[in-house]
Formats: sequence, C-alpha cells, structure tokens
Amino acid sequence: MYTEEEIKKAARDIVSAEKIVALTGAGISTESGIPDFRGTDGIWTKFDPDDFTYSKFIKNPANYWKMSLELGKLLLSVEPKPNPAHLALAKLEKLGKLRCIITQNVDGLHQLAGNTDVIEFHGNLRRVVCIVCGERFPYDLAIRKASDGELPPRCEKCNGILKPDAVLFEEPIPKYALDRSLEEARNCDLMIVIGTSAVVYPAAELPRIAKERDGYRMSLFGLYPADRVMTHKKGAKVIEINAEPTPLTGVVSDYLIEGKAGEILPKILREVERLLGL
Ligand code: APR
Repeated sequence: MYTEEEIKKAARDIVSAEKIVALTGAGISTESGIPDFRGTDGIWTKFDPDDFTYSKFIKNPANYWKMSLELGKLLLSVEPKPNPAHLALAKLEKLGKLRCIITQNVDGLHQLAGNTDVIEFHGNLRRVVCIVCGERFPYDLAIRKASDGELPPRCEKCNGILKPDAVLFEEPIPKYALDRSLEEARNCDLMIVIGTSAVVYPAAELPRIAKERDGYRMSLFGLYPADRVMTHKKGAKVIEINAEPTPLTGVVSDYLIEGKAGEILPKILREVERLLGL
C-alpha cells in the first residue's frame, strides 16, 4: 500500500521535471468499469488471446466479428466514463506538466477526459478500418451492420472487410504511434507508468528506453541494439503507479507507488498544485 511520503515524492519529481510522458495500460480504466486483461477478473480469463490474432481474423473474419462483438460489449457497453485517474492526467496537461500520453488502451477515455495529445499505441476500439482501402468508420456502424447479419461488416466505400481499429496480436504497431512514442521516450526526463503489467512488447520496452536512453533502435517488431544511437542525455526518472509490482519494479522504475490509480493520481495532482502555489 502506498504512503503519503511517496505521493509527496512523486509530486516533487513532477514539479522539478520538464518533459513528462505518461505510459498507461488497462489498469487505469478498471475504475471506469472496464476489466483489465490479466487480472483475476481479466478479459483473458473470459476470452482466449490466441483468438485475437491477425491470422485468425483473416482466416475467418465473420467468426472473428462474432467474438469481437462479445468483447466489444464487455469493453464499451457499460458506456465507460473517465475516472479520477484520467481526469488528473488531463489536469496535469492543462498545468503544462504533461507532454503526452502513450496509451495501450483502446477505450478512448484519455481523450474523453480532456487530454489532447494521446498516442494510441494499440489503436482504438471506437473505430473500424477497411483492410482494403484503409477508410475508417465509427465502431457503431460495424455493430449495426453485424446485427443486421452483415458478417463480416463491409466497407461503405469499397466493400472491403472492416476490422476493429485496434492492434491485434501479430499486427505491427501503427508507424506514427511507434515513431512518436520512441521519440517521446528518448526525450522525456520523467516517465509515469500507470496501470500496466508491463509484459506486452514493444510497449513494455518504452520505460527502459526512457531510462537507458542509448544503445537501442526500435523496429516494427521490437528492439535491437544499435551502435551509433548515442543521445548524450541522462536517462529519465521512471515512476510506476500500479496495483502490484511488475517486471519493471526495482529494475527499470525508480519507485512503485502501489495502489489504485484513481486514488493515487488525484492526490499527487493536489500536491503538485500545492507546490505550484495554485
Ligand atoms: N490502479 C492501478 N493499477 C491497476 C488497477 C487500478 N485501479 N487495476 C488493475 N491494475 C493493474 C493490474 O495489477 C495489472 O498489473 O494494471 C495492470 C493491468 O495489466 P494488464 O491486464 O496486463 O493490462 P495491460 O498491461 O494494459 O496489457 C497490455 O496486452 O492484452 C494486451 O493489447 C492488450 O493493451 C493490452 C496489452
């Protein structure tokens, strides 16, 4: 369980940092009613992650959509709203103390909370994309088509097959998101890692890049050492806020504040505001 001293320490680190980036995972949205993936009640206890691969989608898109509609119900039917953790990050951005959020989440809650610079590392489930022409449509359109029996739902423009605009296993990370995330990780002086088990790559590598800075170049399928990438910059401080320790804890992160993000982040925000004399 976290201590008030840890809250104060994190607030001091935020006030003294200049370039702050947040990396978020499913744990920041559990208090909005969306289950995480690997928790006791996680999504992967109800669905088999092996069914959510690109090759499975291509092999039988109609079957994939049947499953995805079930998952969509679980993720979005509760009409999730941003919780105090999302709102605290939005306030930190307004205070000029947060450059951007790199999120693994596909729920769009950071944007709903008011954050304007959100890098969707795993895409967004509120959209669908045509795998032929690349046109994007609201998820609801696919829901409507699918419930009218159009399985798989088809593109309005070219009749191609529509896919949820979330990154499936085996699929590469969207290039824009990967490039920007790498850039932000390399240039931040503080990375706040919130609500992620840090076991899915390449997202889980970003804190290490922020911390270790040099020696790495990222490809679409992961990282490999590169001799010439020296950034001459001191590594960033990495703070974790999570309900339990992760593989980053005590190895990459400077410290873990253990507990619920929806409790911890508003407390840190209040302390930051106090230190800034607001
Ligand atoms: N506050 C803080 N931490 C929390 C909370 C909370 N309210 N609720 C859960 N957690 C923690 C859990 O203890 C766990 O360590 O958040 C973490 C969530 O981990 P995962 O379920 O593995 O989710 P995530 O890390 O986002 O998964 C990464 O895996 O399945 C894929 O594409 C999917 O983006 C996802 C990726």
